[in-house]
Amino acid sequence: QKRIGILTSGGDCAGLNAVIRAVVHRAVGTYDWEVLGICRSTLGLMSSPPEVITLDIDQVDRLLTMGGTVLGTTNKGDPFAFPLEDGSLRDRSEEIISGYHQLGLSALIGIGGDGSLALLRRLANQGGINLVGIPKTIDNDVGCTERSIGFDTAVNIATEALDRLHFTAASHSRVMILEVMGRDAGHIALNAGIAGGADIILIPEIPYSLEKVCDKIRDRQSKGKNFSIVIVSEAVCTLEGNPVKNMDRFGECRLGGIGQYLAEQISISSGAETRVTVLGHVQRGGIPSSLDRLLGTAFGVAAVDLIADGKYDQVVTWQNREVVSVPIAEAIGQYRAVDPNDTLVKTARGLGICLGD
Ligand code: F6P
Repeated sequence: QKRIGILTSGGDCAGLNAVIRAVVHRAVGTYDWEVLGICRSTLGLMSSPPEVITLDIDQVDRLLTMGGTVLGTTNKGDPFAFPLEDGSLRDRSEEIISGYHQLGLSALIGIGGDGSLALLRRLANQGGINLVGIPKTIDNDVGCTERSIGFDTAVNIATEALDRLHFTAASHSRVMILEVMGRDAGHIALNAGIAGGADIILIPEIPYSLEKVCDKIRDRQSKGKNFSIVIVSEAVCTLEGNPVKNMDRFGECRLGGIGQYLAEQISISSGAETRVTVLGHVQRGGIPSSLDRLLGTAFGVAAVDLIADGKYDQVVTWQNREVVSVPIAEAIGQYRAVDPNDTLVKTARGLGICLGD
């Protein structure tokens, strides 16, 4: 009989609740363990008493189709340099570790991107926490796994946005620019761009020239196509190579920068009428796709089985249609950008999609 904890860390995405459901089904249903859901990531362990909910099968049954995370999450507050109200930073790692032991947990399942997994591993090493990691991020940039939870849903949402933009673009003879997330990687733009029939796909991994972009628009016009669809990743830079950032009271944010910039540049250079859509956090919300539900479920079951086998400090990954566990140390820091020789890059080029180069 074990008592295990589960937390979600970093930005939310679709499929997290499917993992929670699978973990509870496997741990409670198969092994008859107890599962505690830790609220708001490590913040729940920092609280005194720790903020948790006991998860049983009846409670999680409806989670499969729900977006977000019922446990809550945060992507603010490195526990080793936690920002206090007066602006100073404090190491709060011992409070988190003590929360884990206070709860009498035998193991902890942490769902996060590589940043969160690295922090959780540091806590685990310092405080004797038996950790198993599960990779999630819409950016799909965790290198050790072919897929991370949330990516497929985000691509589907961006693809649907492109489908919708086609009609209005054609009706008004406009160049429509869709700016998507992805942090430093162009996976969402590349995948959705191909699936959604974009004419131009701009990703940070492939430098672009405005001339090439405008040539493509003019070429289409000369063939009687009075509109064009551009998809651009948030991390694409200006023509001078500078990142475009917006500021709000919570700090810097990239969203809504490069799309607007390109709209102006394209309009000046080609004379086309342009409009921008910044898809933003819509990409993280909504009902998880079947693939994200499958992946989340497979990861959840496998993570519990690792605990049953006493295998800790591991992260579950998806490789060649199989769940494979690898040491967290090996997994973190294996960042994956789009490889310019990737098969999808070749597919895009083969279709005549302009990649800006
Ligand atoms: O890493 C996931 C992600 O959605 C990125 O694609 C995006 O740049 C960032 O998080 C947005 O973060 P926030 O939710 O803090 O605005």
